[in-house]
This record gives sequence, structure tokens and C-alpha cells, in this order.
Amino acid sequence: MRILGIETSCDETGIAIYDAHAGLLAHSTYTQTAIHAEFGGVVPELASRDHVRKAVPLIEEVLKKAQLTRQAIDGVAYTKGPGLVGALLVGAMLGRTLGFAWGVPTIGVHHLEGHLLAPFLEPEAPSFPFLALLVSGGHTELVKVEGIGRYETLGDTLDDAAGEAFDKTAKLLELGYPGGAALAKLAERGRPERFHFPRPMIDRPGLDFSFSGLKTFAMQTVKQHGLDDQTKADIACAFQEAVVEALTVKCRRALQETGLQRLVIAGGVGANTALRHALGEMCKKRGAALYFPRLEFCTDNGAMIAYVGCQRLLAGEREGLSVEVYPRWPLSELKAI
Ligand code: KG4
Ligand code: ZN
Repeated sequence: MRILGIETSCDETGIAIYDAHAGLLAHSTYTQTAIHAEFGGVVPELASRDHVRKAVPLIEEVLKKAQLTRQAIDGVAYTKGPGLVGALLVGAMLGRTLGFAWGVPTIGVHHLEGHLLAPFLEPEAPSFPFLALLVSGGHTELVKVEGIGRYETLGDTLDDAAGEAFDKTAKLLELGYPGGAALAKLAERGRPERFHFPRPMIDRPGLDFSFSGLKTFAMQTVKQHGLDDQTKADIACAFQEAVVEALTVKCRRALQETGLQRLVIAGGVGANTALRHALGEMCKKRGAALYFPRLEFCTDNGAMIAYVGCQRLLAGEREGLSVEVYPRWPLSELKAI
């Protein structure tokens, strides 16, 4: 069974073809970052319109890469939620239309289930159960994954997502949008002893996160110390240290509480070198295994949607006749297969 995957939940158009036996055949992602950069954040209407422009040409490109024609596609999977409603509708309409036109079944996929199962696109995939830390521009969640569709959210952010905090602080430091990677780069030149940011939530029990206080702290620090080059780097360094420590402490606690020995990192913030290093050290100390899907599968992509769609179609799931998207969609509503 060969499945075409379509991801359009936010500002990336991701297309892929996944084969139940041969694995991932081809994939391609187009990112809209340049379109949204001048507005300092994702503009939903511009996102939807750009998905309309890019999705079909990308599908043609991916079919060509895989050296396949549409007759080789046995099913279509698209992201049904959560995400921006207009952007989701573009993918859903396209997916359902192709399904009707090609006479193949379609399935709407949960975007976060895609992220949680993205490690199965890699040759060294974890076995169930494992703990997953989802850290992106929209999410900061700790999830216990016991099988496909068997997810328990152990911790979530009470306010900003980790990537959002990176982006907002980067904006404050005049690093452009999305500035997470630029902030991380700048932090390398920072002096860790100059500023000490609070460590949100780590002295409280539980596995939830909170990052909006860090942004406020960064703002106050800028007000007091200005924005010369060294100060910017020092703030970036102290901010990153606080985020990394908060994430690492909660991951350690979650491993301890669940007794799990496998940790998967997904989402764009997983690209952060300091975070990778800190989690690597923490896991080593505990004798736990750490998994990072390659970066292009950590961030939004069509491959994870095609993979999940393939598993669910193989299990006999199909979309009903109406075209629905769920901008909000708790993971707990998913069915185990
Ligand atoms: O998963 P992702 O590509 O997209 C969505 O959130 O939809 O994650 C993007 C987020 C952005 O907030 C970006 O600033 C952050 O990941 N990011 C980083 C780094 N690279 C990307 N944050 C910290 N350090 C990085 N190296
Ligand atoms: Zn995502």
C-alpha cells in the first residue's frame, strides 16, 4: 500500500509518499517562512493562500522523485488538525478531492500523532512504550506513547510554547522571525554568568511548563542593560540556559515517574544544540536511550502524515463523506489501533 501524505496545518506545505513495505519513497517540504517574516509571525490567510499555490506542484514533484504516476497511489492522508483552520481546509479539500478523483480511500491525520510517530521513519526506531517531548513553535508537551493511538499527555505548557518563547525573545533582541535558531547561534558568544533567568516551574511538582515569564524577564533585562552586541549575546545565552534546564528537568522527572527508558524528541526546537547536549547527558546518566528523528522529520513534514495515514488505512479506518477539520483536537480522542 502506497500513501500520499499532505501536511498543511501551519506554514509548511509537506508532501510525501510512504510505502507500507518499502518505507518512505519521496518527500518534499516547502516552507513559507519568507512570506511571514515581515509580519513577525504566521499570517493565517497568507498561509492558506500559499498552500493553495504550492500543494499541487509539490505533489507532482514528489511523484516524479519517486518515479511513480498517480495510478500507483492507494490512499491519501492529510492533516485534519490541530492547526490553522484555513490552512487545514486547503489540505483536507485537496486530499479528499484527489481521493474521489483517483478512486482511493482517504484518512485525516492528527498532526501531533504525526510528530509522535515520526521516529518510525528512521532506521533506528524506538520500540513502545516511550516518552516523547514535543517542542515546537506551537507545542511543548510530554507524552507517554504506549502504541499507535495510545497517548497520555503528562505535561503541557500553561502559556507560551518553547519555540514561541525563543521566537518572542529573538524578536526582542532584533533577530528577525522565526528567530529561535539565530538566538541559539548568538548564545554561543554569550557569557553565562552575567544574567540569571528564573527556572520556570522546576521547583513545583508536576510536568507542566511555563515560558511566558522568561520573555518578560528578557524584556526587563533589555530595559535595564540596553541592546549592545555583547548584552544581546549574554541575554540569549541566559535565556537558552533557562529553557534547556526547564525542559531537561521535566524530561528527567517524567522518565523517573513513568519508569520509561526511551525518550524521543520532536519539533523544531529539537534542533537546538544545547538542548540536545543536555538531554544526551541526562539520558546517559540514567542509562536511557535518546532518539532524535532527523531534523527534516522533527519539523513539520508530509512524511509523518503519510506514515500515520498508512498505519490507519491499513487498520481499516476511512474518512466519512463530510470534509471536516479540527483546529483543536485532543490527542486523547484518537483511537488505538
Ligand atoms: O516544529 P517547527 O518547525 O514548526 C512549528 O512550530 O510549526 O518548529 C519551529 C520552532 C520555531 O519556534 C523556531 O524558532 C524553533 O522551532 N527553532 C529553534 C531552533 N531551530 C528552530 N529553537 C531553538 N533553537 C534552534 N536551533
Ligand atoms: Zn508541527
